[in-house]
Amino acid sequence: MNIAVIGSGGREHAVIKAIKKNPRVQTVYALPGNGGIARDAVCVNVSATDLDAVVAFVTENNIDYAVVTPDDPLVLGLVDRLESVGVPCFGPRKNAAIIEGSKVFSKDLMKKYGIPTAKYEVFTDAEAALSYLETAPYPAVVKADGLALGKGVIIAETKDEARAAVLSMMRDKKFGKSGERVVIEEFLTGPEVSVLSFTDSHTLVPMVSSMDHKRALDGDKGLNTGGMGTVAPNPYYTPEIAERCRKEIFLPTVAAMNAEGRPFKGCLYFGLMITPDGPKVIEYNCRFGDPETQVVLPLLESDLLEIMLAVTGERLRDVEVQFSSDSACCLIAASDGYPGSYEKGKRLTIPENLLDRVYIAGAKAENGELLTNGGRVLGVTEVRPTLREAVAAVYEDMKHIDFENKYCRADIGAKALKATEGTHG
Ligand code: AMP
Ligand code: GLY
Repeated sequence: MNIAVIGSGGREHAVIKAIKKNPRVQTVYALPGNGGIARDAVCVNVSATDLDAVVAFVTENNIDYAVVTPDDPLVLGLVDRLESVGVPCFGPRKNAAIIEGSKVFSKDLMKKYGIPTAKYEVFTDAEAALSYLETAPYPAVVKADGLALGKGVIIAETKDEARAAVLSMMRDKKFGKSGERVVIEEFLTGPEVSVLSFTDSHTLVPMVSSMDHKRALDGDKGLNTGGMGTVAPNPYYTPEIAERCRKEIFLPTVAAMNAEGRPFKGCLYFGLMITPDGPKVIEYNCRFGDPETQVVLPLLESDLLEIMLAVTGERLRDVEVQFSSDSACCLIAASDGYPGSYEKGKRLTIPENLLDRVYIAGAKAENGELLTNGGRVLGVTEVRPTLREAVAAVYEDMKHIDFENKYCRADIGAKALKATEGTHG
């Protein structure tokens, strides 16, 4: 089989490495991929959001199956376009990807079907939003309706901060059309858990749980990033919580999407908060998380491509989805300054023996060398019987990976270790 993976980050690199384990795979193309992914796939210089160009490449190159992983092409309807030219895909159609593409849609869905989430109000008018903020409880959470490169959520401690967020989204159009509507919601507290799942709209199979570290600095300080590291499993996701999530959140979400005539097929990602009142949905993503994927897929013992094909063929219940009981940690190396401004073009050295565990997110190949080319440059993942060993191993690996302005958080896994060792001695 010839497979096209659409996207260019560490997540795509992890998906490609996992897919390639299937002996039926002949060639994997990455559109556009990156200089590091080029070791594992044929990179084609086509942007993931240039739908016409993706469709043209896929039809002209005997592609049997496409895997669409980033949010934008999914929300733009790339899967529908590819299916219309006869290429089966892993990923939801446009009418289901809206579960991530519009926060107003997802909040209204949860309200209508009784799925636990933060209380909220929707505003289409800045004046109405500002007047609501006069008497709102603080902190308040202000969210742009549409995709905003992960920057559309502001936790406002005070009325002034909330007003500034509303004005930047609705009046100054900081996120363009994405901010035409805003959701203002109740601030929830509790540990966060990410659960990715496979679903073919009939069956839902949760993957091993994980924990992201979104802030740039140690101790969960600093600006929000795309994610500075992950661990799996997440110790806060106990069997009791998992069972509640399944009954109160996962299955009702699949049923709600079917009832709305928007069957979801692909990877449905639940961003959860374990509040004192039980698990609640913070957000849905219509795709694999990044860098959650870089810890979840290394723990998958079953064949990823066979699972994906079963999702597409709506026969997920017939395939095995088995995860290892080991733990995984992924540590991200970013360019110093990220998510603000940073320098690129630094020479990257990665020892040969680590290459199978390294996922390249932002690098380009030039004259046989790899140069940094993004904020998040790469991640390294280790799988070990215990989380403590996995964390120690990635920090050891990272000592041998080098580029001039390398920045890593020093405490990836610390919170999870505290929780694990606190509960189990
Ligand atoms: P999102 O992009 O929706 O995942 O939001 C980014 C981050 O903001 C989440 O990972 C949470 O840490 C935080 N967040 C979002 N909504 C809430 C909420 N209602 N209460 C507390 N924190 C929130
Ligand atoms: N790591 C969170 C996300 O992929 O949105």
